[in-house]
Order: sequence, then structure tokens, then C-alpha cells
Amino acid sequence: VPVVIAVDGPSGSGKSSVSKAVAARLGLAYLDTGAMYRAATVWSTRRGTDLSDVAAVAADVAAMPLEMGVDPGAPGVTLDGCDVAREIRTTAVSEAVSTVATNLDVRAELKRRQRAAIDAERAGGFSGGRGILAEGRDITTVVAPDADVRILLTASEEARLRRRALDVHGAADATAVEATKDQVLRRDRDDSTVSQFVVAADGVVTVDSSDLDLEQTVEAVLAVVAE
Ligand code: CDP
Repeated sequence: VPVVIAVDGPSGSGKSSVSKAVAARLGLAYLDTGAMYRAATVWSTRRGTDLSDVAAVAADVAAMPLEMGVDPGAPGVTLDGCDVAREIRTTAVSEAVSTVATNLDVRAELKRRQRAAIDAERAGGFSGGRGILAEGRDITTVVAPDADVRILLTASEEARLRRRALDVHGAADATAVEATKDQVLRRDRDDSTVSQFVVAADGVVTVDSSDLDLEQTVEAVLAVVAE
């Protein structure tokens, strides 16, 4: 039976690492929707568009030649034929992405593409019809409220800042945490019209990873899936 799993969560919740591991373990395709908003930011910036020009950015994204790889072991992001997996993670993109993500026409376009990817996998795609795990910020609520399993991955602010510092600086000492703090908290605020993680939506199961390591979080998510 093809399965659709939706995972949402804020920055530093461990969402991407956990989602990739769970998808690999279950033999599911994997869709990183945050990478799509990041790629849209790269694309519009590259074209010289003022990111606050809502109509211009929407026009760019409507014609964006983006291809998302769905293999959880190697989820490539290709823009106009070029691998942008590294470029989409730069600080400049992290700082600009919320402007693009709060553009409602951009959201409608990317939702349409995400939905198409989910429906294609449900019909039998990369993983031979076993299904897909899609992760982001509005997957459980907007993109796939009909998913078979819906999970909100949360973590305390302290745990999120520590993980983010490790990701970005390779260290989680006080200096590294301080250096990422402003960026993480600003993005929480800038994304607040897109997603609220204080309470899970109806039917969405919360997994709190504050005191769990990666493997323990993966086990906790797999337990929810098995329920
Ligand atoms: O870096 P981090 O894991 O926090 O974020 P990401 O998953 O790469 O997403 C980057 C940005 O894309 C978020 O800060 C949101 O602005 C936007 N996003 C969104 O609006 N909706 C989604 N479903 C996924 C991401």
C-alpha cells in the first residue's frame, strides 16, 4: 500500500536528517520542500529580481526550471540543469528565503509542484509505488492534510539553536550558538505567517526531539508510523 508521510517542524528540529533516515528505512521517496523555497530564492536572485517585488518573483518561480531528486540517500536539487544543493544552504539564502516563502503566489506554485510529486510517488515512482515522505512547514496542514501519517517534529529553543550551530559552524559552544541565534530567531519570526508550531493541528502527532539524539528521534517517528 503506497504511503504518504508528512513531517513539519521549525529550523533545528532535526526535521531533514530525521526525515531522510526514516524515508531510507521505509524505502520511501523523500521530498525536501524547504529546498524548493531555497531554490526559488536562488533563481530569483540570479535573475536580478528585487525579492520584495511580489509579482516579479511570482513570474520567475512560475517558470523556474527546478528538478528535485527524491532519493533519500542523495536528494539532488537541480536548477536549469545545474546542481545547486550547496548554494541553497548559504547564509545569504537562509536570510532571504522567508521573503520568497511569504509570497502567496510562490506558495501556490510550489504547493502545486509538491502535490504533483506526492501524487506521482503515490501512483508508483522512484520507490516502486511504496510512497513518499515530504517534509517542510505546511505539509501536514496545507500540502498533504490527507497524508496517512502526519508528524510535527518539535524541539526546545535551546536544542534547536545547539543543532543549528553544529550544522553551520561544526560546533555548539556558546560562541557558535550566539552566532546562529539571531538568524534562527529572525527566521522563526519571518516565517510566522507561514507556519505556527506552538500547537499541532488536529490529527497531527507531535514528536519532541529536545532530549533525543538522531537515532532515538528516528525510532520515535517510526513508532508513530507503525501505530
Ligand atoms: O533551514 P531549515 O531547515 O530551517 O529550513 P528549510 O526546511 O530549508 O526551509 C527554508 C525556508 O523555506 C523556511 O524558513 C521557510 O521560509 C520556507 N519553507 C516554507 O515556507 N514552507 C515549507 N513547506 C518549507 C520551507
